[in-house]
Amino acid sequence: MAALGPVRYHAPMIRTAILGLGSYVPDRVVTNDELRFLDDKHERQAEPTINTDDAWIQQRTGIRERRYVMPGVATSDLAVQAATRALADAGCAATDIDCIIVGTLSPDIFFPGVGVFLQRKLGIADKTSCPCYDIRQQCSAFLYGLQMADAFIKSGMYKRVLLVGAEIHSHSMDYSTRGRDVTALFGDGAGAMVLGPAPTDDPRSGVIYTKVHADGTGAENLYIKIFDIAKAPYLAYDTRDREVNKDIYPQMDGKRVYVRAVREMNLATQRALAETGFTWDDIDWFVPHQANLRINEQVAALAKIPAEKCLHTIQFYGNTTAATVPLTIDHWRQAGKVKKGDRVLSTVFGSGFTWGAAIFTV
Ligand code: COA
Repeated sequence: MAALGPVRYHAPMIRTAILGLGSYVPDRVVTNDELRFLDDKHERQAEPTINTDDAWIQQRTGIRERRYVMPGVATSDLAVQAATRALADAGCAATDIDCIIVGTLSPDIFFPGVGVFLQRKLGIADKTSCPCYDIRQQCSAFLYGLQMADAFIKSGMYKRVLLVGAEIHSHSMDYSTRGRDVTALFGDGAGAMVLGPAPTDDPRSGVIYTKVHADGTGAENLYIKIFDIAKAPYLAYDTRDREVNKDIYPQMDGKRVYVRAVREMNLATQRALAETGFTWDDIDWFVPHQANLRINEQVAALAKIPAEKCLHTIQFYGNTTAATVPLTIDHWRQAGKVKKGDRVLSTVFGSGFTWGAAIFTV
């Protein structure tokens, strides 16, 4: 009797689809002009607190205004709003979610992470016990999370992943001239996607491509320290003393970040096209991370991206870090530009340094 050969089992290939999308920004609009007069409590003062002006900010960054939360609102509150909208868009109940991934650099508290607060606020903490991941890749977190969600779904591990990027920057900015380079850039907001197995195995739809990178030599070019765990006590200053409290605010080497962001977002974009074989004719929208309009315009010029395919929201929302990608897609979907099934090429760059690119249909 002939020996049986090895038994080969080919599991059917699961592909990932974006089933729902949602976003949320707080109502309070802070224009560049108003920003000049705000104090640490976001209250308008009679005299300017920051030596800056609307023309400088618009010319250097493209930002006209940003959104700020009201006192008492936490990052998980923004996350739950965006998540609820993404769930409704996907036609899912919160109890269908079997995994939560949240990207944020502004968690409600140091630990536990925002994921468990979001789970609780969705009302599923005691119903599903679904796992909650917090990821810390700053402005690149949404594409890092997209890659994780895609891998989880492809492996059959989870069937409904809720991926959220949510940030409250307004509470941690330096409302003095010392912090003007950073304070002008950032705003509050959240965006979310629900991901699950795709109904088709069409390789040109769903999550098509993700690639993410990091270079830790840039870690001190954009960071917020707050504490140093190598020291005892780990908070070694009076946080109320503006002369000594620099560590509680973000620090940035703006020029180095700028140059590297242009370089890596361009290369990541070109690599995404080369590795998938797509051209700009196959891509409906280019959605770069929203840090600076000039960075994105330079990337678009280098990667020869048709201007009419570039989507931006930085003018209205500033940089909302982990939230910019879903927030921008959803903003333009609500405006009627982005349609169901459109193919998006997204690229991100942020603190770490971290960066990456992805191609997916929405
Ligand atoms: N308003 C007015 N003046 C400002 C200012 C503001 N908000 N921020 C900085 N300045 C001043 C600087 O203090 C400096 O003054 P000085 O010459 O007296 O020292 C002057 O403007 C020029 O600063 P510089 O840093 O050379 O300006 P820039 O052209 O590089 O623009 C950024 C600064 C921050 C807009 C720019 O470097 C940038 O966008 N970098 C990337 C940042 C980023 O994207 N971060 C997030 C990544 S995810």
